Amino acid sequence: MTQDGVRPIRLDGLAYGGDYNPDQWPEETWAEDARLMREAGVNLVSLPVFSWPLLEPREGEYDFAWLDRVVDLLWSQGIRVDLATATATPPAWLVRAHPEVLPVDRNGVRLEFGSRQAYCPSSPVFREHALRLTDAMARRYGDHEALALWHVSNEYGDHVARCWCPESAAHFRRWLQARYGTLDGLNDAWGTSCWGQHYTEWAHIEPPRCATGPINPTQQLDFERFSSDALLELFRAEVDVLREITPNIPVTTNFMSLFRELDYWDFAAAEDVVTDDAYPDPADPAAHVGAALNYGLMRSLKGGQPWLLLEQAPSAVSWRDVNVPKAPGQMRAMSLHAVAHGSDGVMFFQWRQARFGPEKFHSAMLGHRGTASRSYRETAALGRELSALSAVKGTRVRSAVALVVDWDAWWGLSAPDSLPSVRLDWATQARGWHAALFALGQTVDVVRATGPFDAYEIVVVPNLYAMTDEQADALAAYVRGGGTLVVGPFSGVVDHTEKVHDGGAPGPLRALLGVAVDEWWPLPDDAHETLRSGGRAWRAHTWGEWLEVSGDADVVATYGSGDLAGRPAVVRRADGGTAWYLSAVLDHDGLVALFRDVLRGAGVPATPGTTDDVEVVTRTDGATDVTFLLNHGRRTVRLSDLPADSRVLTGPPPADGHVTLGPFDVTVLTHPTTDRPPAVRILTTLTDEKGPSA
Ligand code: GLA
Repeated sequence: MTQDGVRPIRLDGLAYGGDYNPDQWPEETWAEDARLMREAGVNLVSLPVFSWPLLEPREGEYDFAWLDRVVDLLWSQGIRVDLATATATPPAWLVRAHPEVLPVDRNGVRLEFGSRQAYCPSSPVFREHALRLTDAMARRYGDHEALALWHVSNEYGDHVARCWCPESAAHFRRWLQARYGTLDGLNDAWGTSCWGQHYTEWAHIEPPRCATGPINPTQQLDFERFSSDALLELFRAEVDVLREITPNIPVTTNFMSLFRELDYWDFAAAEDVVTDDAYPDPADPAAHVGAALNYGLMRSLKGGQPWLLLEQAPSAVSWRDVNVPKAPGQMRAMSLHAVAHGSDGVMFFQWRQARFGPEKFHSAMLGHRGTASRSYRETAALGRELSALSAVKGTRVRSAVALVVDWDAWWGLSAPDSLPSVRLDWATQARGWHAALFALGQTVDVVRATGPFDAYEIVVVPNLYAMTDEQADALAAYVRGGGTLVVGPFSGVVDHTEKVHDGGAPGPLRALLGVAVDEWWPLPDDAHETLRSGGRAWRAHTWGEWLEVSGDADVVATYGSGDLAGRPAVVRRADGGTAWYLSAVLDHDGLVALFRDVLRGAGVPATPGTTDDVEVVTRTDGATDVTFLLNHGRRTVRLSDLPADSRVLTGPPPADGHVTLGPFDVTVLTHPTTDRPPAVRILTTLTDEKGPSA
């Protein structure tokens, strides 16, 4: 551990490697694997993620001999391990001896063994066995020099994020008791005087199941919170075992990008390094925009500390309806994209392509055709290239804008049956706002609704449906200290118990924003309205609000059509800095136009561009910047206004002050730090090719 309490991953340079499942292969292939890994530049391998039944074939009977040989072999080639605690899937003997370990869905159906992650997060039996294996793994491998990182379980919440079994129900009740203390407290928080829901015994409370009609929204929200906490508890329990035995080895669990089911702020606080599994769809031409937000979240979860892309596909996955491969160069672009956004390495699922099981058609670093496969050639080339980028290790991404992500608001807005409109989707809002900022050349960080915001010139809140006074105070203090804040529709509506704020929305931010919502005005499906701002017209859909505006606020845009015609739609108020409120859902062009005004007002330059396919991201150590110029598209582009005194680390070099990037090409430049990240211009789009050829 370093003096400031950080446990870094024990690796030289950037991490490179992937998941390895040696137990799916005869032992004769292991030596070849280790040799080829080394040749491909691999320095880190994740294993044995799903090997519990081999490590503990019968209760309490361990067999580590095979894993010893694998780890020693890898280390003999200088390859370190991201060692899984192997608790992601309980063995058959455990679920047959204790069937209550299996999870139950909301209809009361117990899910069978036969896939993976077949466990109830609240099961004490599962937990006891998982902790015993964790303990055994830590004692066995804690001192092995190859051990770089602990990989706890795998993708918590994938497959099973919620369980409705009796054990989970009992755990939910204990969680509620700890939260509310008394039944009076719970009855008050849940508003049980509505519809005769009053409770007189803790034992009468159940998780929200299939009921006769709409379910108490606070009960639903608490079940979301509880379910996230139940997995967090399990995670922490394993972390505690590992920290006790191996206090200097960093701990992680692999996240799944912007994932609704788990509050990653809490999970990140319990680990040393944030790691993510990212599978942008190569068939989606805008996948890089979504990925940029996911990566923004990953680097922000621990305050800008580098994170690690722990899984991505070398080419196609096997779990979409149609699994499109990555075009030549696309895997490299997607990998460098993650590095640009703060990942200190690139890892894949998986090393050797499976011959059997549900993932036999999932691409791998070493495809079915072995070293002759395209994926092997591309992964070996990337391994070599990453060694030229080791200077970025530990550096931080530069960003002037932060977007607020809050799981309570997300969960609250997911209540299926008691909202003004179910069409106002939290993730769609967040992604839409981010996409508009992306189009204006912004690299966007993510923050909690309580901050800290000091590092940012602009903070945007696409939606904060549930808003506490603490969150409102932090946002208001940021504006009063000179910041620029933009708040989106249906924010500040309820408190943390789902009770509507007195006086209406946006609740504790009414004074700061200078607006009060008199009535929600959701639009029928397929309806569009126009907003007018000066001579400009912006298209809105899904949502509107009847706003009353205070005298000291400026109306920036009004509704131009429909029932709200002539009424305020976008309002701006100066209060130290500037607070904006947007009451409608704008389409992409409208949002871009609005955010262009916001950026101008805050003095943040919008990078001029002709295509969203190009992205410029800068990492810095404070003295030297590393700027990534990424062409995510299939057209050749020419860029100018490159940073002064730059040197190429990898990719096509500048000529005559320009860089030309073919389909999916990337150039990485290093240069002295500038006041602002370089405002590279996209000069021309040279060709309109269909795509690259191998
Ligand atoms: C997830 C899992 C891996 C593998 C990949 C396939 O990320 O963690 O075990 O199944 O998906 O894409």
